[in-house]
Amino acid sequence: MTAARPILALASGKGGVGRTFLAVGIAQALAQAGRSVLLFDADLSAANVDLQLGLHKQADLGDVVAGRAALADTLVRDDRTGITVAPGRSGSGTVGQASHATLDRLTCDVAALSQDFDTTILDLGGGLEGSVRRFAGLADRALVVTSDEPSALADAYAFIKVTRDQPLQHEIIVNMAESEPSGQATYAALRRVCVHFLAKQPPLLGIVHRDPRVPEALKSQTPLLSRHPTSKVAQDILRLARRLIDHPERSAQPA
Ligand SMILES: Nc1ncnc2c1ncn2[C@@H]1O[C@H](COP(=O)(O)OP(=O)(O)O)[C@@H](O)[C@H]1O
Ligand SMILES: [Mg+2]
Repeated sequence: MTAARPILALASGKGGVGRTFLAVGIAQALAQAGRSVLLFDADLSAANVDLQLGLHKQADLGDVVAGRAALADTLVRDDRTGITVAPGRSGSGTVGQASHATLDRLTCDVAALSQDFDTTILDLGGGLEGSVRRFAGLADRALVVTSDEPSALADAYAFIKVTRDQPLQHEIIVNMAESEPSGQATYAALRRVCVHFLAKQPPLLGIVHRDPRVPEALKSQTPLLSRHPTSKVAQDILRLARRLIDHPERSAQPA
């Protein structure tokens, strides 16, 4: 399903690669550029967008799945970043095991809500379960996050593989790079397996450097672009957002 307004999915397969950090950072950067942004926490098992932002939520996805609230009623606007968040519920078996019918309803609700925003960002959960693929199916672009760890690369490749038949434009973000050349080498490794096994060459959206200010900002529940706006890693994220704005459709290079 492709909505008229752009929907971006942050994906990784593996957890712990900075998917949520980047979803929040890109959302804030787009908001700073004047866009209205909805950030939907689609991680059904380890939701933590609200924690990273230090948001006070009245209701969340757990209430929606239990039928106690409509998705629209869970939305919280975060004044610091200007993002509107649809918060998730962490560690909830109920949400993690939502039925097909519930997932159908949720994806329809997200598609409908996305019409009220310039851009919608989905923080997809880790893993490759049906729910991850279902939410990915809503998106126009999948920003696939990897680090240089072999398991992160393998899981990023696996995500691209299982979603390759969806009408989804895959682009790569290398996170926690020690340097520009090592980030490029990580991208080249992922591109090689995509070309070899999938005859596909997803473009590099950008490289984000490793920086101890990231965990420090997360600990203080303050978004990095607010806490360290001039840091290199903040500049990396602003550059990613600028590329998303400047290239609404990036044509994938032939393999
Ligand atoms: N660029 C970075 N530099 C340093 N640490 C990072 C960076 N990106 C993410 N991290 C760290 O990685 C951990 C996982 O981040 P998180 O956003 O929760 O990942 P995910 O959503 O993929 O599980 C956090 O402790 C965070 O501080
Ligand atoms: Mg996360």
